[in-house]
Amino acid sequence: MDLVKCQLPILFLLFLTSSATAGNGNNISAVVLAITKDETTGLFTIPFAGEEYLFDITANYFSDLCKPNHPTVACNSTVCSVAHSFCASFCPATTVTSDCQRRGDVCSTSISNSLEGGCYYGEPSLIEAGVVVSAVDRRKGNLELISLPQFISVCGYETMLGMLPESAVGIAGLSLSPLSIPSQFSDFLSLERKFAVCLPSTGSATGVAIIGTELPSVLVRRGNLANRFTYTELKSDPRNSAAYFIGVEGISVNQKPVDFSSGVFEFDAVGNGGVMLSTATPYTTMLSEVYMSFLKAYKEATAAIPRAKNILPFDLCLNVTSLESNEFGYDVPPVDIKLSDGKTWTLYGANIFKKVAPDVICLAFVDGGPMEQMLTYNAVIVGGFQLEESLLVFDMDRLRLGYISSLPGTLSVSCEDFDDELQQPLSAGKMTM
Ligand SMILES: *[C@@H]1O[C@H](CO)[C@@H](O)[C@H](O)[C@H]1NC(C)=O
Ligand SMILES: *[C@@H]1O[C@H](CO)[C@@H](O)[C@H](O)[C@H]1NC(C)=O
Ligand SMILES: *[C@@H]1O[C@H](CO)[C@@H](O)[C@H](O)[C@H]1NC(C)=O
Repeated sequence: MDLVKCQLPILFLLFLTSSATAGNGNNISAVVLAITKDETTGLFTIPFAGEEYLFDITANYFSDLCKPNHPTVACNSTVCSVAHSFCASFCPATTVTSDCQRRGDVCSTSISNSLEGGCYYGEPSLIEAGVVVSAVDRRKGNLELISLPQFISVCGYETMLGMLPESAVGIAGLSLSPLSIPSQFSDFLSLERKFAVCLPSTGSATGVAIIGTELPSVLVRRGNLANRFTYTELKSDPRNSAAYFIGVEGISVNQKPVDFSSGVFEFDAVGNGGVMLSTATPYTTMLSEVYMSFLKAYKEATAAIPRAKNILPFDLCLNVTSLESNEFGYDVPPVDIKLSDGKTWTLYGANIFKKVAPDVICLAFVDGGPMEQMLTYNAVIVGGFQLEESLLVFDMDRLRLGYISSLPGTLSVSCEDFDDELQQPLSAGKMTM
């Protein structure tokens, strides 16, 4: 993979504001979206217009299949140059100018599919198809349907949308890209460029994404929880400038630091490495050398717990017949992720082990192989399973991540308790063109 220098997408913040149809005058304080877990794939979806879209914090656009005679965006428009201003993972930086001539002044862009590591460019078209979302009216305190006619999405062909959960028809991107869902909602509605996420742990519970604010109101009602968040810096990968990375110094299992070769979590000279967060990866995927050390440490820490037969793709399964469990999950050694700014992100049982049979749980981390096999050339991709039932705030302007680990254990709430955010009418939707 070539090293290309990408511009930081935040430079383009507010490019839409001048043309925004809605502003502070609308008194909107947040946009609220329900999150559902697809048990088959371990991925998450959110609804627009009654259809489900992959909830993907690594994706840069809202994208789905092109419909006949879809509207297009002109090549010389500001938004077209914005779309070509940042790098997408696995995709070469292209200007796509030649496509504009070839395709008769249709602005196209490149799209990466994090599920399969594919890059598609030249064909996916920018479209101004608009969107309808359910937003909280700050003054009235209720949900309203707000239409954003200038919302930009991308449409493409079927292969571009490979490996989606069966229920999903497209990808809802929430990266740092200026054309991601939170960037555009924030611009159009003058919201803060941040979003809170609570991923549900089962297919029967509903989680929530709240764009433009930090705290679900159910937590606000329980008192000031701002001080319960730990914040860590978000880092940027020069090759994948819109994705969310955290700085990791090391990992401890049961308070004991795991032996890793030094600098293994950092970006190397060509930009390989780093620790990326991804809701498009079901289980945390580690570079082989990192995984092997982690697995060894975890095996040692659980030597006293009876084993069960391993179930693919996992390498350590335990028989939990005699193991206690509580709101944090099964009573297994915690995993501390030591962050480079001195903070610690602790994972407890429920985010470490997946239940695969009534009395069997498996260490829910997977071997990503050598660097060439890691989809995005990162050292670790922190997957959805490890993020479930935690409250995460992606603060896109301050480039920091706020987290409260294991809500059921630490605050005795679960993502499902946030569903009163979603109580009121409505289903958000795409506008019919
Ligand atoms: C927004 O709220 C203020 C008072 O809080 C009110 O005066 C104003 O009319 C509201 N704007 C809209 C568009 O509802
Ligand atoms: C884009 O091109 C069209 C036709 O070629 C022209 O009418 C329009 O003014 C141009 N817009 C900008 C922003 O340059
Ligand atoms: C787990 O251990 C119990 C008690 O030793 C045993 O009866 C059961 O068959 C074991 N289950 C599996 C899946 O290994």
